[in-house]
Amino acid sequence: MLIFTYFFNGCGGIYLANEFVVTPWNVEGRVDYMRLAREFGVQLITENEINAIRELTGEVHYLIRRGFFYAHRDLIPILSRQRSGLKWALYDGRGPSADLHIGHLVPWILSKWFVDRFNVDYFFELTDDEKFLVKEGYTLEQTNKYAYENALDLIALGFTPDRLHIIIDSEDIKYLYKIAVKVGKKLTLSTVKHTFGFTDSTNVGATFFPTLEISVAFLPTELYGEQVPVLIPTAIDQDPYFRLARDIAEELGYPKPSTIYSKFIPGLTGEDKMSASNPDSAIYVTDSERDVRRKIMNALTGGQPTVELQRKYGGDPDNCVVYKYHLLFQDSDEKVKRIYEDCKAGKLLCGECKMMLFERIRVFMKEHSERRERAKDTIHQYRISVKFR
Ligand code: TYM
Repeated sequence: MLIFTYFFNGCGGIYLANEFVVTPWNVEGRVDYMRLAREFGVQLITENEINAIRELTGEVHYLIRRGFFYAHRDLIPILSRQRSGLKWALYDGRGPSADLHIGHLVPWILSKWFVDRFNVDYFFELTDDEKFLVKEGYTLEQTNKYAYENALDLIALGFTPDRLHIIIDSEDIKYLYKIAVKVGKKLTLSTVKHTFGFTDSTNVGATFFPTLEISVAFLPTELYGEQVPVLIPTAIDQDPYFRLARDIAEELGYPKPSTIYSKFIPGLTGEDKMSASNPDSAIYVTDSERDVRRKIMNALTGGQPTVELQRKYGGDPDNCVVYKYHLLFQDSDEKVKRIYEDCKAGKLLCGECKMMLFERIRVFMKEHSERRERAKDTIHQYRISVKFR
């Protein structure tokens, strides 16, 4: 079915498709991830990258092992730097809003693992400016307030202030502006329009914004006064920024950023991506236990229509959102294997499987909200302005 058609100019990062659309602000239709990787020109994660990670750390994070993170740009050079003891940094971000869902936590969970394993700095950009400029219905004061709220969720994942450096665009612009104007001079309006799908009625603030998301990729090099490439763990929707960043990096004297891309966490009700427009498709970090339970119990499964048929023929975990969530929130391979096999054999009913998932997420969210509460006392220690003057 034709949902949208974008014209692709050959250098842009926006994905054109007859069946689906992926842009940094919009995902629609059934995403063909292999095709997307091809069209964006990113490499798939293969045994080569997996072995390189295992060689360095003795293990591979389950989000990579299970294929949620499936593509990259130049991951190997970053791993080689690690092996040689050369500096590199991690970079992530968030367009702050009230509806932070557990899908948003996925890249941060992997970043936490990288920080712990590789002992690297983690730069995190909260784009209150972007959210204000690109989305209708927000004041800048609101998006700024959400930046602080979302920062608490990030800190709650267990980062320490010596490693995590938080940048809030509207407040920490002095760190980015000199880089952004250099980036801005290298990008034509035509490139930015084609890459992000902007039109003549897009506000000029939104057209300048990409320079800021790109700038953070170059910031560690400025701060440390030496070449410090970044690795960016994110869902693949952010690739357009980093594709442009890579195009202009060397001309500006900066190292090209590397990236590692995940698929989207699907919506509980069958969508390819959790979506704010359907609140039941997503579990928000602020949802009550009751809401989480209701959403999980209403989730789409690969189960049979009746208990008898489920017992007789078994379910289809390969086409089950609930099973996918087990893969995301259960790090024990043994446990997910048992769920998979019991489902196929008809030993596990969908209601039981959903309750297991609910229990897992309930515990995660309870701990998360306690850690989030504690983060209120320490948030200032994570601000970039406290560490780099
Ligand atoms: P935002 O706020 O839209 O998304 C934040 C991060 O979450 C990822 N993401 C998802 N991952 C898995 N499943 C999903 N359903 C899902 N939805 C969103 C996004 O890919 C992103 O990594 N412009 C950015 C903010 C930003 C940024 C960055 C993001 C600034 N610098 C560097 C990544 C890396 C934004 O609005 O993200």
